[in-house]
Formats: sequence, C-alpha cells, structure tokens
Amino acid sequence: MSNNMVADHAIRPVENDTIFTISAKASEAVLKYGAENVINSSMGVLLEDNGDFVAFESVYSYLKDLDNPKIAAYASIEGDSDFLQAVKKACFKNHMPNAYIEAVATPGGSGAIHHAIFNYTNIGDSILTSSLYWDPYNTMCVENSRKLDTYNMFNGNGGLDIDAFKEKFDYHLNKQKRLLTIFNTPAHNPTGYSISDEEWDKIIDILKQGASNKENKIIVLVDVAYIDFCDEKFDRRAFMEKFAGLEENILILFAFSASKGYTMYGLRNGALLCVTSKEEIAKEFFYTNLHSNRGTWSNGTKGAMKVLTDIINDENVGKPFYEDREHYVKLLRKRADVFLEKSSEVGLELYPYKDGFFVCIPCKNPLEACEKLMKNNVFAIPLQTGLRFAVCAVSEDKCMVAPKKIKEVLAECDE
Ligand SMILES: Cc1ncc(COP(=O)(O)O)c(C=O)c1O
Repeated sequence: MSNNMVADHAIRPVENDTIFTISAKASEAVLKYGAENVINSSMGVLLEDNGDFVAFESVYSYLKDLDNPKIAAYASIEGDSDFLQAVKKACFKNHMPNAYIEAVATPGGSGAIHHAIFNYTNIGDSILTSSLYWDPYNTMCVENSRKLDTYNMFNGNGGLDIDAFKEKFDYHLNKQKRLLTIFNTPAHNPTGYSISDEEWDKIIDILKQGASNKENKIIVLVDVAYIDFCDEKFDRRAFMEKFAGLEENILILFAFSASKGYTMYGLRNGALLCVTSKEEIAKEFFYTNLHSNRGTWSNGTKGAMKVLTDIINDENVGKPFYEDREHYVKLLRKRADVFLEKSSEVGLELYPYKDGFFVCIPCKNPLEACEKLMKNNVFAIPLQTGLRFAVCAVSEDKCMVAPKKIKEVLAECDE
C-alpha cells in the first residue's frame, strides 16, 4: 500500500520549478557580486535596464482610480460582456477573420490553454506541438491525463519543419480522429520564431486535407501570449484572416493573454476565443467554456477586465497606454537586435529569432552549459536542446556582451 495521501493520479515528482530556482541563484549572485556583474536572463518578464519590473503606469494608475466595486465585485462567469467584445478587438485588431467568433474570459493565457486541452480532447489523447515548447503545455496535459507529442520544429533553412509537422499530424489524426495542435506564434517561447504567412498557407492546406474525412475533428490552438510585443511594421496578425471559410470540422482557438502585452501578469486576465464557420460550433464553444469556468476558477478579475475594456474602447485611456507599450516594444527590439548582431559577430548560433521576449541558443549539453554559465554569472534556462536567454530581462549593454561569454562557455562544453 502506498504512503501517499494524494490520489494515484496526483502523485507528482517532488521538484521545484527550474526557472524560479535559477532566478533565485541569480538573485544570490547579485547580492554577492553586485548587479552590474550579473546577467540574469532567466525570467520571462520585461525588466527595465536597471532590473526594475516594468508595470505600465497607464494601466496601474487607471486601475487604482477605479471605484472599489468595479474591482471588488464578481465578474460574470463567462467574462463581462463589454470585455468579451473588447478582447476580440484586442486579439484580432484589424485582421478579424470573417467567421463566427466567440470569447470566454480566463485567468491569463494559461486558463485558455487549460480549457482548450480539457474541452477539445479526450482523456488519454495526444496533443501536438513543436519540439521546442513552453514547458507548462506538458504540465497541463499531464494534469488533465493527456499526453504531449512533438514534431521537429525547424528545417535546415531556418523555417518551420512543415514535413515533420504533417507526418505527426496525419499520424495522430488517423489514430484519434480528433487532434488538438498548439502553435505558439508569433514570438514563440523559447525561440522567438514567428510562423510566416506562407507557412500558415501550408499548414492550412494540411488541416484541410485532414478535414476532407468528415469523421475527423481538427482543433488548432494559436497561443498569442507575446503578440503585442511584435513591432506593428511586421503585421504579425495578417495570418488571422486566413481562418475565414474553413471546413466545419476545423476549429481555430486563440489563447489571449494580458500578462505581457498589458503587464497584467499577476492580475490573471485573458480569454479563449474561437473562430469557426458554423454558428452552432461557436455557441457550443461559449456554453462549454462558461461551464468550465464555473467548474474550475469560477470567474476572472473584474478590475483587470475593466481596464482592458476601456483601453480598447476609450481613446483617452488607450492613448497613454499605447504610448507606454510602444516605448517598451522598441526597447525590446533594440536589445534583441544587439544580441543578434553580437551573436553573428562572435559566431554564436541561434535558433531563428523573429520577435519577442526570448532568443534561444542550440546546444548539446544545456545542463552543463547552464551550470558553467552560472559560474560566470550568466543565468539562462536550460531546455532539451538549447539555452533560453530572456532579452526582455537584460539591458542592451549586457545583451552586447552576453553572446561572447556564452560562446566561450559553449566552446568549453562541446570539447
Ligand atoms: C508560451 C506562453 N503561453 C502562454 C503563457 C501564459 O501566460 P499567462 O497565463 O500569464 O497569461 C505564457 C507565459 O509565460 C507563455 O510563455
């Protein structure tokens, strides 16, 4: 008989979160050696050059000025109705697909991913994503008695390995007749890759081939957690319009998060949205996810919904917010550009970066490299096949020197 008090399905490894562990070591190093001598690229949050946390002044002054009941009261279970309209605009902006679209509020993007997994796959199903992925996808699959399977992410030309995707997609769809695929794009965590419009065309062709068998149910979740840190000039929402007029057995979901784009990490604000050609599927989506909200966390954070709604609908609230955000989008781009430029100068190979909070360095022995880097006061996150470096958390000056330090350590490890 087992000594566990938790039920069999809830027995988990006794281990701490890697990111928080490495981040704690970085904080110790700062105390010992001084902040100027430590490069802490462990946490996926936006920090000022001096290490201060970035919380948009426009968001927090507006939130704190709300009447208390507008913060304290319960929100509707599905999310307040004006928020649900606003979040559609915030997600799609000027690329709203011509389709039936519904939204349900969730606590951050994580809540949305949870509902997609729970409501659109069966117990024991495999869910598909790329070989480099945000680890909580796996945690959420395990938590819900599902499995995560992956396809090789990049081909030799610095693009998405569409053939590898197709092979795994066809395999699971044939077997399960229902498949949820997660794409974290644009600004993928951990690589910063953004799927191009041409790659989306190929992906959609594969989805359509699968949908020609009417028994199949194809669900795609696009996790857009970092979308608002893409520079507008790249038009990274254009692909969204491609989801108009799809077969009725293809359902597109979006996991929207206000954590990064609105610096609302701790306020837990987000939504799951659906795009479908069939009205009843949109209705089913709405009531199923409303039910899941009641059956999990009940409802979301009213004050955070109100702030996002007013940013979208009221120019006086929106203007200072967009100014705030634009400043940090530029700051992030500058840091990433410097890191890319210096990497190419010293010959440090990177996975293809396009936008966002992270760059990722391919590496044979990530754990060893991470340990050695820590001894040199550089703190990055080891992944299965690489090291994640959070440019969002590191000043431009430090982004300038980090590639050389990393290159030197990797040379030692690969020997
Ligand atoms: C890839 C990815 N998706 C989704 C999220 C969801 O974040 P949240 O639940 O805070 O909105 C994160 C946060 O780090 C992320 O990195």
